[in-house]
Amino acid sequence: MSDTHVSPETAGQDETREPSRRKLLIGLSLGSGALAAAAAGYPVAKAVLDPAFQKGGRGGWQRIGTLADFPTGKTVLVTFIRPGARSYGGDIKKDTAYVTRRPGDWLALHNVCMHLGCPVRHQEGSGLYFCPCHGGVYDAEGVNVAGPPRIPLQRLGVRVQGQEVQLQSAAMPLPTLTWPGGES
Ligand code: FES
Repeated sequence: MSDTHVSPETAGQDETREPSRRKLLIGLSLGSGALAAAAAGYPVAKAVLDPAFQKGGRGGWQRIGTLADFPTGKTVLVTFIRPGARSYGGDIKKDTAYVTRRPGDWLALHNVCMHLGCPVRHQEGSGLYFCPCHGGVYDAEGVNVAGPPRIPLQRLGVRVQGQEVQLQSAAMPLPTLTWPGGES
């Protein structure tokens, strides 16, 4: 049995120390909670904000070739880097887009089906874009006309600087997430 002696001088100190100790513990647990929340939220915040701050970020322009690479009326598959997009391995992910130089304007369509994300294929004769995964079809403007996709292919900006052709990268909209044959 311990024989703790509490003198009259120190008797009140433990009680006065107790609230400040409690405050310290509450402060520490709140601080570590805030740190954990910040750590958990970092990847999300980075994914959202990074593209806007990187070189060639949202609204950034990338060189995809010269005018000679895009004969009028021909649809050309080009490769570009979508800022912030990384593969599961962490490498910078390259995307593709179909770019058509038309008399008076350009059309660039992101080569990703808006159903579940398969790459679509352009058919030269009909001008249509077909998705091999579940039979999605898009017309020559990239508008969904058959199969499960519910929204058009994503359009990307194109501009010409001297002889150089540039593509404007943009954030990727979410696919429609419909099941083949589904109603919505
Ligand atoms: S992913 Fe293209 S139709 Fe399903």
